[in-house]
This record gives sequence, structure tokens and C-alpha cells, in this order.
Amino acid sequence: MKIAHLSDLHICQKSRPKNLEKVRMLFEYALNKKADHFVITGDIVHLGEAEDFNAFRQALNEFDLLDSNRTTLVIGNHDIFGGVYLAEDILTFPQKCMAVDYQKKLLEFKNFFFETYENTLFQSADDTYPFAKIIGDIAFIGINSTRPYSRFKNPFASKGMVDDAQIKKMNRLLSRRELTGKIKIALIHHHFQKLGKKKPAFGSSFLINLESIGGKLKKKKRLLNVFRRHKINLVLHGHEHQSGHYQSKNLRFMNGGGSIDNNEPDRFKLNFIKVNPSKIQCKVKTIAYKDAFEERAVHVREPVMIS
Ligand SMILES: [Fe+2]
Repeated sequence: MKIAHLSDLHICQKSRPKNLEKVRMLFEYALNKKADHFVITGDIVHLGEAEDFNAFRQALNEFDLLDSNRTTLVIGNHDIFGGVYLAEDILTFPQKCMAVDYQKKLLEFKNFFFETYENTLFQSADDTYPFAKIIGDIAFIGINSTRPYSRFKNPFASKGMVDDAQIKKMNRLLSRRELTGKIKIALIHHHFQKLGKKKPAFGSSFLINLESIGGKLKKKKRLLNVFRRHKINLVLHGHEHQSGHYQSKNLRFMNGGGSIDNNEPDRFKLNFIKVNPSKIQCKVKTIAYKDAFEERAVHVREPVMIS
């Protein structure tokens, strides 16, 4: 199976109108490269608004990706709390976060993309996370790493944590018979290690980057122990807007956070993961905006009519 991994799309028709079109270009590019399955690890939308979830839903549908066998999604902090774009939004952001019904948002996300949750295993029927989806030799494990808002402990609503209840359920889910012998790929929004050392440039993306700086994953050792105990083969994540792979204490990680919003102008990043029973190959593909356009022309070309 060839997996295309994207993250942190930050679709926002109000403030970032080009992002949705860029996502379409990445879908087309990956499909031209024969991707079998798409994984998107959160921050699909920027402001957490229904119109942007619907626009993304529409894009998935256009490429026949609104299907559990083709796409797996996990939630990011922006999908719940939204974010700030203009400097003045900082002042109203805490009130906005306090008004958010966290559990309701988790459920709404699942309902928006319900087709992608078909044939998915949960520990109880009303759970949103964790989940397991088995496709052939692979078991995708979906985890929610967003942390509820707190004025002091999580003031930008960007920090991550996997709570006790989810850890318990993960242990039970990962012990299920259906997962025996499967290649296990964990999908989570928050990063475990930072890839980028560059300071964010001051500009429109400064505020998003500011959140990433404070967006640590709390109690990550406990989560890493669960991954090791259950022999997770690969962890796919985003949150930090960089793409790359790294290894830490027998665990492999890929960050797809730089798919669209990265430090290189006019460049996309797309993670490709080729999974065979004996090995997993990870590759970060850098695509020039111009080349993606050319690939697109190939993909959408009309058949030549011969009269
Ligand atoms: Fe994020």
C-alpha cells in the first residue's frame, strides 16, 4: 500500500482562500503517483468553522476520497478551537475557546466525515477516539491529542495531551485479536520532536507559528510507552509546520505538518509511505507549485476527440 500523508491544511475560505485549491493540487499529485490511501493528521481547517469542513468534504468527494478505504482523518486543535489570524483576534480568542463544547466538537468532526469512519473499531459505540481501522495488513490507530482549553494551562488552545481514559482504551484496543499481526500505524496531531529550528518569519503565518511554539504534547513519555508496548511500527503526525522523519528509541515518526504551510515559498511537501509486509519506506517529497500545476494538467486533461 502507498500512503500519502498530509497535515495542517488550515483551510479557511475567509483568511486563506488559496489553501483549499492547494489541497486539491496535492490530492491530484498524490493520485497521479498512485497513492492508495490518504492520511490527514489534523488542523484540516483554520477557524474550526462548518463552512470550511464542508468545503473540504466537497474536495474529498471530488476525488472519490470520501471513503473509509481511501482516507483516514484525525482531529487537530484548530478543528476544535479555531485559531487567530488577525492580531486583534488574540483578545477575543480566550472567550471563544471557553464557549467551545469540546466533546460536541469531537463528535461533529466524526459526523462531518462519517463515511471515512465506516468499518472502524471503537472500544464503545459512542467513542470518538481512539479508533482502529484495518485495511489489508495495516491497522491505523487514530488518537486525539488535543487538550481542552485552559486559560492558564493551555492559553493558546494548542497544547496536546492524551488523557488517562484514552490511554486505557488504547491499551485495550491495541490488544484486540483483530490487530494481531498487523502493521500498526498511529495517527495523531501533535509532534513528539521538533524538526524546525528556524524562527518564524513575521507575517501572516506568525500567529500560527506562535501557537506551535507553545503547542507541546504533555505526558508524551506515557504515550510512547504504549506505542512501544504494542509495537507501533510508525507514528504519523503534524502540528509543527515542518515535514520530515525521525527516529527515537525504536519508534519511527513522520511529520506532515509542512504540507502547505512551510518555510519554503511555492513548495509543497507530501509524505509518501510505502508499506510492504517486510518493510516500511518513508519519503518526504518536495513539490514545486509549478510542477504540481503541470501534474494537474496531466490528470485533468480532456480526452482528445477524433472525428
Ligand atoms: Fe495544530
